[in-house]
Amino acid sequence: MWSENVSFVNGELQLSAISASDLAREFGTPAFLLDEASFRTRAQAWKNGLHSEFGDHTGTIYYAAKSFICTAVAQWIKEIGIGIDVCTGGELAVALAGGIAPNRIELHGNNKSVSEIDRAVAIGVKTIVIDSLIEIERVASAAQRHGVRQGVMIRLIPGVQAQTHEKISTAHEDVKFGFSIASGAAWESILAVRSHPELELQGVHCHIGSQIFGADAHELATTRLMAFMARYRDEFSEQLPELNLGGGFGIAYLAGEKNVEPQDVLPAIHRAIAKACAEYSLEFPQISLEPGRNIVGPTTFTLYEVGTVKNVDIGNGVIRKYVSVDGGMSDNIRPTLYDAEYSAVIAQRASAAPLVNSRLVGKHCETGDIVINEISLPSDIAPGDLIATPATGAYGRSMASNYNHVPRPPVVAVKDGKARVIVRRENEEDLLALDVKE
Ligand code: LLP
Repeated sequence: MWSENVSFVNGELQLSAISASDLAREFGTPAFLLDEASFRTRAQAWKNGLHSEFGDHTGTIYYAAKSFICTAVAQWIKEIGIGIDVCTGGELAVALAGGIAPNRIELHGNNKSVSEIDRAVAIGVKTIVIDSLIEIERVASAAQRHGVRQGVMIRLIPGVQAQTHEKISTAHEDVKFGFSIASGAAWESILAVRSHPELELQGVHCHIGSQIFGADAHELATTRLMAFMARYRDEFSEQLPELNLGGGFGIAYLAGEKNVEPQDVLPAIHRAIAKACAEYSLEFPQISLEPGRNIVGPTTFTLYEVGTVKNVDIGNGVIRKYVSVDGGMSDNIRPTLYDAEYSAVIAQRASAAPLVNSRLVGKHCETGDIVINEISLPSDIAPGDLIATPATGAYGRSMASNYNHVPRPPVVAVKDGKARVIVRRENEEDLLALDVKE
């Protein structure tokens, strides 16, 4: 659950040899502490993993910006030499601010606006992943306006029910994304794209969901996409060059869980492709992926400070200790939204006190503002203690809100014993910045 440069020295958490108390003193709480070396290692592992598995058939690792992006991270992506998947004009702006070349950018989204499409085409993004028939016309007319041929992929729905929370499962039939293979919509989209000479069909894409373990779901999706590619080749006597299998690779949030590593899934995907190539006499396509959570999630922990502690009698003499921290659902909505589970430790000291039944809650004015529903914490936990929750790098800061006008926490990157702010903390001025005084 902890990133590679986290250690515990005499009961105190350290990141790259900087203690939790020093980090809290310098940057305040709550704060996201990001282990930069770990980010680079994880991104590089996907890049290398794809290459060692697929050799000449290596496509691109597109880091899924939605999991967490800021200008500094976009700069790292550029340095590491992978691509980026953006799904809004805002994410695109950050990618460009970080200096990522348009030919390393892929644009996603089920409702890209005309102006988002126009900008993407104007700057020459590598590919636009088509999600609806309406969008095909929009991308084609943008390409015409700019006098270019725009690369596109088609997002397919392979009808795979991934084992994950239903709100983050995306490739069964009843979803807003993409084109169903089974219903015939996918084939219709192919014909529509082919009717526009200004669109270059680069291949097919799917993303079956997020926080998925094992290789079965990706393997099944691969098999179905390869069968679709075979149908395309049979019909048009040419083959689509690229297969993009999206992201979704799970990470550890609790003790005993394990991050999915590239070598845990790539061989199974490889086998499925090789089998389909043999069965349908297809050329081996270029393989691309879009991991987000798996790269950034494990690199970051959130550091909170305990403000109040309250023993609540929940009936039959059972006591639950409510431990309130200085953040909550505004910096981590995942427990509320997906029943996501996290773990936590006291970060600045060891405790030999007995563990007691506790609930870690935030400072927001609602009962559902829970960081950890059930956790055993030392009975001597007290105001001023620091709490660290690991694996909050993905979909934490990126889904953070200003609920209750709580300023969003900073992101602090730590590397080689040095810490620096890469996203600063919001302040009261930021909170008032958009209000228009009457
Ligand atoms: N590609 C596409 C087209 C996607 O829609 C997503 C995530 C990814 C790649 C990256 O998936 P990852 O590797 O991070 O699992 N807010 C939710 C997760 C939503 C994911 C949306 N799409 C959460 O906090 O669990």
